[in-house]
Amino acid sequence: METVQNYTIRPFQADDQAFLSTMLYQAIFVPEGSQPPPPNVVELPELSKYVCNFGHQPGDLAYIVVDNATQQLIGATWLRLFSGDHKGYGYVDDSTPELSIAIDPQHRGRGIGHALLTALLTAAQKSYRAVSLNVWVENPALRLYQRLGFETVTANGPEMTMIKRFSD
Ligand SMILES: CC(C)(COP(=O)(O)OP(=O)(O)OC[C@H]1O[C@@H](n2cnc3c(N)ncnc32)[C@H](O)[C@@H]1OP(=O)(O)O)[C@@H](O)C(=O)NCCC(=O)NCCS
Repeated sequence: METVQNYTIRPFQADDQAFLSTMLYQAIFVPEGSQPPPPNVVELPELSKYVCNFGHQPGDLAYIVVDNATQQLIGATWLRLFSGDHKGYGYVDDSTPELSIAIDPQHRGRGIGHALLTALLTAAQKSYRAVSLNVWVENPALRLYQRLGFETVTANGPEMTMIKRFSD
């Protein structure tokens, strides 16, 4: 079985933009029994705003996972700030960036997501007091967030907003 040692976690580069859109699609939770949305769903404004022109908005921060054997990009996590007029799904306030994450399905369950999130959170705490996210209650990713210290701040039907505080 492969371990996290077979992967490299590195900061986002300008030519990762298209890959980030691919990962945005992978990050969409599809409840059991539902059809996945079409790939171009990520072009909708409420989704594309998570990745468009990434790296050019103040506070953008992202890490990418590379499979050492193939040099393929297989995962990403990123943070972006949203303002009151353009709130994201996990919006808390204008100074708390929202976290997104996805690992390619073939590489899930090997500890990569945990290592990737740890890298992002370590970097994020130098710039932010907290980060937030939106997650479906039935998404197994919820357990990963709880293990890393995310707490629920609001629950809204099948979805919830969680926050990881770095300082009081
Ligand atoms: C969530 C995700 C990034 C975790 O990455 P990973 O490399 O699979 O995670 P790790 O191996 O480090 O940790 C395993 C944990 O990930 C979560 N997980 C495992 N498979 C998952 C899946 N198919 N979907 C969502 N989360 C999953 C669980 O919390 C699991 O812990 P558990 O075994 O105690 O339940 C990855 O599974 C994924 O891309 N899922 C689909 C996209 C997604 O749901 N993104 C989050 C949206 S809020």
